[in-house]
Amino acid sequence: MAQVYISPVQKILSHSRFILTLRSETGKYHGLILFRLSPSSNDPKISHTDEIASTDTGRDGALNQIYIMEATCPHLGADMSHADIEEYEDSVVAVCPWHRYDFDLKTGKSETGLRTCTYAVQIKTDPETGEEQVWMEAPDGGKHWRVVELRPVSEEFADPPMSSENTSLQPADGLIDPQVQEATEPVVPEQNPPQTLMEWAVLILNTPNPTLKVERTRYAVHAFRTGTIKSIGHKVAHPPVPPAQPSRETYMKIVEPGKIQSGKRRNRAVMLHALANIEQWAIDLAWDIMVRFGPMHKDLPPAFFSDFSKMALDESKHFSLLRARLAAFSTTYGSLPVHASLWDSAALTSRSLLSRLAIIHLVHEARGLDVNPKTIEKFRKAGDKESVDVLEIIHADEVTHVTAGHRWFVWLCEQQQRQRQGDSLDVDVDVDVDPIRVFREEVRRCWRGDIKGPFNVEDREKAGLSREFYEDLKGEMPYSDDDDEEDKKRADHNRAMVEVQQGMADVRVGYD
Ligand code: FES
Repeated sequence: MAQVYISPVQKILSHSRFILTLRSETGKYHGLILFRLSPSSNDPKISHTDEIASTDTGRDGALNQIYIMEATCPHLGADMSHADIEEYEDSVVAVCPWHRYDFDLKTGKSETGLRTCTYAVQIKTDPETGEEQVWMEAPDGGKHWRVVELRPVSEEFADPPMSSENTSLQPADGLIDPQVQEATEPVVPEQNPPQTLMEWAVLILNTPNPTLKVERTRYAVHAFRTGTIKSIGHKVAHPPVPPAQPSRETYMKIVEPGKIQSGKRRNRAVMLHALANIEQWAIDLAWDIMVRFGPMHKDLPPAFFSDFSKMALDESKHFSLLRARLAAFSTTYGSLPVHASLWDSAALTSRSLLSRLAIIHLVHEARGLDVNPKTIEKFRKAGDKESVDVLEIIHADEVTHVTAGHRWFVWLCEQQQRQRQGDSLDVDVDVDVDPIRVFREEVRRCWRGDIKGPFNVEDREKAGLSREFYEDLKGEMPYSDDDDEEDKKRADHNRAMVEVQQGMADVRVGYD
């Protein structure tokens, strides 16, 4: 039986649930949840074998049963990361948060007749190092899968509970942010509260207060995961319409990118403020991609919304972490000018999901992977360990965001290929929709100027971006009197964005 190496055992002792994403050598993704049942929930009557769907090492009670199953429910696609785990005499089941179907963690069977896939787990000891490792049965019998993401579902499932030291990095779990600009509205509006994920997306995009935007994001994502929100709402006849631009508080001074303080003598507070601004827009970008393109692509599966709602939650965590660091410099978020250039990119890619994924996630966010390590190094040299910790968390999350961009870009290419094959009766017609080729065409069409290095090849590779995607690539959007209005706007924008991108890199590395 082909197997996939997951991680050292040590790595999964911190939490009881992990999001596990695999990628095959052909660029296909597989989303899974790894459950590690805690000793307290371990039923001693359950018998285990290494080759069924779980394993039980029994070592000091620290590692008990490990189960791996599909990340989405086979009924209507709910995210299973927040499934309830219930134990019966002879089985343990995951209960879907949406309609309460339960699935046996060993066999994947449900009493309803539906079945999900579960995978055999095995603990092996490396003969050379003695390290204990988690392995799983490979999906679809092989295909050279590798792990591209293994991360705790959330701090809710931390085991053992976080120490008070660690909680300084977890504002989502109760840290009082010393710079909160108090929100005057309730998290859930009293009048016409949103019923679907799409309605929550529009509400959050229209929420100017940064604190309330973060709180509503946390609430909506949690409610979606736990089944309080049962409908995505992108297939209805009249889906809610996102605003042309998200709201901002009137005290925010939004200026042209070139008017942001430049030069090498930027201090840490200025840099943290600039990064917090990027994260604030990133929250909106994650909600916007769901509500703008969900109704345009009704075939998007629930996993798309799970990925991007997770991204929204990550970005809200990043914003809170950075704002808490700003407090250490007695700087309030909003006290310095900010730019809205990331939103300009969103506006100019508002008609095509392929363009949006290519430019925002595989150009801009991928560029972040290149420059983040240098920024972290600058803060490290300054002896600012707290900011280094925050930036390292952000960087690790951003690798998964580029991965999500790559995953859905490839998915869209596959959809287009299927559609063309279905439309074409001529077997000689070239219907190959190669993601690398399509990405390079998108960048040539929607970008002006070089895709600049130096590249963080290793982290780009982790996210699915091989060198063939981005090396020797140049946006070729023309400037011409013949360009239509849309092209002209795009050209002007991208000229600005090249400057902004350089500016962002400078912001990230310019501290001395
Ligand atoms: S029971 Fe899981 S989506 Fe309905």
